[in-house]
Amino acid sequence: MIDIKNVRSNFPIFQNNEDLVYLDSAASSLKHKNSIRDVMNYYMQSGSNVGRGSYKIQLNTSEMYEESRKYISRYLNAESEKSIVFTKGATHAFNMIAYHFGNKLKKGDEVLTTKLEHHASFLPWQRACNKAGAKLIFSPLDNDFRINIDKLLDLINEKTKVVAITLVSNVLGYVTPMEKIIKKAHDVGAIVVCDAAQAAPHQKLDVKELDCDFLAFSGHKCFGPTGVGVLYGKYEHLIEMDPIEVGGSMVDDVKEQYFTTAEPPNKFEAGTPPIAQVIGLKSAIEYLNQVQGKKLEDHINELRNYAVNRLLELKDIIIYNPRAEVGIITFNLKDIHAHDVETFLASDNVCVRAGHHCARLLMDVFKTSATIRISLHIYNEKKDIDKLIFALKKASNFFNTLEEVK
Ligand SMILES: Cc1ncc(COP(=O)(O)O)c(C=O)c1O
Repeated sequence: MIDIKNVRSNFPIFQNNEDLVYLDSAASSLKHKNSIRDVMNYYMQSGSNVGRGSYKIQLNTSEMYEESRKYISRYLNAESEKSIVFTKGATHAFNMIAYHFGNKLKKGDEVLTTKLEHHASFLPWQRACNKAGAKLIFSPLDNDFRINIDKLLDLINEKTKVVAITLVSNVLGYVTPMEKIIKKAHDVGAIVVCDAAQAAPHQKLDVKELDCDFLAFSGHKCFGPTGVGVLYGKYEHLIEMDPIEVGGSMVDDVKEQYFTTAEPPNKFEAGTPPIAQVIGLKSAIEYLNQVQGKKLEDHINELRNYAVNRLLELKDIIIYNPRAEVGIITFNLKDIHAHDVETFLASDNVCVRAGHHCARLLMDVFKTSATIRISLHIYNEKKDIDKLIFALKKASNFFNTLEEVK
């Protein structure tokens, strides 16, 4: 059993917000105290740049920055830390990949994706396909909105150049079984880009075992700072890839009319990087690494099942994913707009997300413009769900009474 009181003592937000019901971790998780401490320590004790000098505080900062890279490389089981690029976040990483591989697309080529994707995962490819005259193909979903793996495998052919897929859906919490997809994509010479933005906070990732070409996630969903993300890429691809940004720190040599780039990962980290965030990310991932595993999975599963059962007490509930694998539940109250419900819940300090969740295409599949999403993590407990249900029942009564008065 997880000791919630002890867990919550690691998240300073609860010190001043005891009645906070935070059910929006898929948008951004709460921040761990060690991560906040290390960001602050960097500013208090150094504040210097990285890789540009030999004085003490700069050497220390550079060492901490590179330690973070090494730690994350080991955490992901990457072949070496040279495969780990620090980015602004997952969105930035996918744009970096699509910039290079998008420029290589030709008329008639295909990029395979799904309607479960977050905009960050497929819009960079949509733009690249439109520019190149290539085709963006959406693999069909089953009736319960899961990816139909057999149909997806059938769509991979010699025209497929890229497969861009989420490991865990940010709306439905479904986990994509990637093994066969990656194998078939590689058989036809396509690259596979895994969106791990929702997987990283919940699953231990092993890029060697997965054998994906690229994988990216954001620090702020993993108890860490905003403004930092991780792009893992197979080194053979990173060596070949053109960086989007050019400038300081990413060059080997510069002449009047041309320059040569440094080796990866530096080639992709032009300018002053998010130093404090990279340092704070290490401590966040250390905590994640410490708590990830069966105990946390059991905790989230139990909470999710409890939440689904309690939501079913509401007579006007529509649940889109009653059998999700991670702690994400997406629902609506019949005939009440998701944003109205969200605003109502906010007045009880119950934090949920309403809208299209940056997965606009999935809303068309649902035949709605918006849903309410709750997302759970280690600091949540049954009391949070009870408060949510209490507030939802109030909202339902309020809006239904309004409807009767009308
Ligand atoms: C599945 C998924 N992919 C990508 C992103 C983009 O992450 P960021 O906004 O941190 O770049 C998100 C954020 O919600 C997400 O849920």
